[in-house]
Amino acid sequence: MDSLKRRPQAVLPFAKPQPVAAVAPVTPATTVLPAPPTVLALEGVSWGPKGQGDILSDLDFAVPEGQIMAICGANGAGKSSLLRLIYRHQAPRQGRVRLMGRDIWQMGAMETARCLAAVLQEQPTDFALTARQIVTLGRLPHRKGWGWATPSGSDAAIVAAAIARMDLCTMADRPFATLSGGERQRVMVARALAQQPKIIVLDEPTNHLDIRHQLELLALLKGLGLTVLATLHDLTLAAEFADRVLILREGRILADGPPETALTEAHLAQAFNVRTRIDRSGDAPRFSFHL
Ligand SMILES: Nc1ncnc2c1ncn2[C@@H]1O[C@H](COP(=O)(O)OP(=O)(O)O)[C@@H](O)[C@H]1O
Ligand SMILES: [Mg+2]
Repeated sequence: MDSLKRRPQAVLPFAKPQPVAAVAPVTPATTVLPAPPTVLALEGVSWGPKGQGDILSDLDFAVPEGQIMAICGANGAGKSSLLRLIYRHQAPRQGRVRLMGRDIWQMGAMETARCLAAVLQEQPTDFALTARQIVTLGRLPHRKGWGWATPSGSDAAIVAAAIARMDLCTMADRPFATLSGGERQRVMVARALAQQPKIIVLDEPTNHLDIRHQLELLALLKGLGLTVLATLHDLTLAAEFADRVLILREGRILADGPPETALTEAHLAQAFNVRTRIDRSGDAPRFSFHL
């Protein structure tokens, strides 16, 4: 079970083999920790735009708590559409999306947002809020009434911690529009952290980031102890960062498993329609592609 991979000592080592003359066979002493609960599940999900055919078909998978899942696939494979179903932006045509066991469309938008935060590709640029004010918006689902513009003491502390975590202290009071693409991306992640969700969903989060910030972001996401689903173009990053890789091809699941079984030459050839070679001699697999 890949979900157990991140739990050190999930299975205790087997007892040492006994000498041949041992009287009775020794039963190995194993202690298996209970599997983490499923926090997100897609059950027979299909989706397509109104009046058109399906873009996503027959999606079935369950995500255990704490799992880091990368979603990979060619442009147009349906990755962003899949995330939109998961963050309750669009409803499945068939099937169900369950969050903590409940149909997400039986939950309110605010209730969903207390549990799940999304970091999207498109970032707003045309308004005058500062970075801190945008991060503060992450507290909105937790507030009663409409007084979000004057956050309480604990909200302010949560916002300050999210800003510090994303290394934004020096620019927190600058207008969002004056920040670089990478800085804006970090603000949006800080907003998601301020939401204090159980699950974070990110659409190509490394896109605007330089290499150091890519690695830092993925390490930070991994260190949060939350469930993370992220679409990633960089397969080396996916292999290093994810416990599990889901590969989409034309709206269907082509592969779903630990990086070593999902990211194979055969799957990548099918997913991206290119010849693929994987060099596994180093610490991390190296992918090379040819037409
Ligand atoms: N609302 C929509 N109306 C029409 N077509 C859509 C809509 N949303 C997505 N699509 C189409 O669905 C396909 C998958 O898109 P998308 O999920 O954005 O793929 P990816 O994120 O993997 O690049 C694309 O062909 C896209 O044009
Ligand atoms: Mg996309």
